[in-house]
Amino acid sequence: MVAFYYSEPSRTFNEFLLIPNLTEKNCTPKDVDLKTPISKFKKGEQPDLSLNIPFSSAVMQSVSDSTMAIALARCGGISFIYGSQSVADQAAMVRKVKEYKAGFVVSRSNLTPQHTLKDVLDLRKKTGHSTVAITDNGTPNGKLFGIVTSRDYRVSRDSLDKKISEFMTPFSSLVYGKSGITLSEANDIIWEHKLNCLPIVDGATNLQYLVFRKDYDAHKGNPSALLDDNKSYIVGAGINTRDYKERVPALINAGVDVLVIDASDGYTEWQSETLKYVKSNFDVKIGAGNIVDREGFLYLVESGADFVKVGIGGGSICITREQKGIGRGQASALIEVNEAREKYFQETGIYIPICSDGGIVHDYHITLALAMGADFVMMGRYFARFDESPTKKLKIGNNFVKEIWGEGSNRARNWQRYDTGGKEGLVFEEGVDSYVPYAGSLKENLDKSIGKIKSTMTNCGARSIEDLQKNARITLVSATSLVEGGAHDVIMKESSLSGE
Ligand code: IMP
Repeated sequence: MVAFYYSEPSRTFNEFLLIPNLTEKNCTPKDVDLKTPISKFKKGEQPDLSLNIPFSSAVMQSVSDSTMAIALARCGGISFIYGSQSVADQAAMVRKVKEYKAGFVVSRSNLTPQHTLKDVLDLRKKTGHSTVAITDNGTPNGKLFGIVTSRDYRVSRDSLDKKISEFMTPFSSLVYGKSGITLSEANDIIWEHKLNCLPIVDGATNLQYLVFRKDYDAHKGNPSALLDDNKSYIVGAGINTRDYKERVPALINAGVDVLVIDASDGYTEWQSETLKYVKSNFDVKIGAGNIVDREGFLYLVESGADFVKVGIGGGSICITREQKGIGRGQASALIEVNEAREKYFQETGIYIPICSDGGIVHDYHITLALAMGADFVMMGRYFARFDESPTKKLKIGNNFVKEIWGEGSNRARNWQRYDTGGKEGLVFEEGVDSYVPYAGSLKENLDKSIGKIKSTMTNCGARSIEDLQKNARITLVSATSLVEGGAHDVIMKESSLSGE
């Protein structure tokens, strides 16, 4: 007996290009729909869960917290909140996303009627907020007694000891909205009464939220937002194969929409056990991975996975291949898993979505991944660069950077992700602690990436991801023609952008 050798080398996205197909006149970027399934479904039926754009953010401490999840769901994608934290903390992040109502903010500056003008001025100096809610107990959800804005006092005339009850706009004179009101109804009241801020109260006149005039424009224009039936943002969460009996119920209780077992190598009996347990005890969607071949794919599908994540060793912060010598070029992995998925579909009539995880460097890698069969991609480095990622923005030399560290680094200490049933703890690292160039806001960057993906899809004559998967023509590039792909044989001006 000898070990099995693959005759083909394993390949990365950089080694491939797409060849244009005929572009019909009614195939322009605005005709392209990027909606994509994230949970398995039967032929002819609709998936229970889809994304409006094929983007998910990685299950990483330095990438996916509630702020990222809200920002990405607002644009139509999904975040998987990292699992390398306590069950309570992860559930709190999920709950925060589910309870977030775009444009409805919990009041952050609150005082009681017994406080004084001096207290108002001190609070204003501290928070910068000019609207202070006055509640019976000074909390954001206390009984609303009034509102104070700069129009209610004159610092030059009023005594600093003056009680708020003497100068606030009392509840009886306030225009307010009732709980359950929509953002656009709140906005109508704001305009009708020429208000800057509308308090929203419940049936017992307890303050729930404030809606500000200035926020409306920022929140109204998200036609692709990924929402559930209650108009809350859809959110995912990562779990491991150790504490799932405790973690999964807590996440479901917090409202999570989809789970993923996050592991470096998912072709394990622990993943199978976890999938079977979750599927037989809860009504929740769950993905599994990561795997890089047909055997791993079928194993997880037969154990009950709703989607399968592909990729080992290609992540930007990943040193698994160097440390352990396991992994596979992301393109080769995807191509083989896609073939297995297609065969499984032909045989069973069940479509299993595939997520390509890790190794996306250029936007065109996303389009290639989709063409090679991915239904969506997962990215860490890409999202870590934005304002919305949880890490610090630092200045190094003349450049701003953001931190990113792998889940297999000593910093994250996520030993469960690399668990191979041995003793608890990271024996060696599989990830690094590093920086990425800061790139600004998520939406701005995402709009650009989506613009490029749609444009490439029209070159390939595809109006949907399914079209692209069926009809794309993909070619290998030789080492020599790689040089031809970038700008070459010219002298670059400094202002030329290399682009992402
Ligand atoms: P990126 O988009 O290239 O940054 O890859 C992100 C992916 O890398 C994640 O979704 C994980 O699958 C993987 N990953 C995260 N942390 C580590 C690590 O420490 N070592 C190896 N892979 C990691």
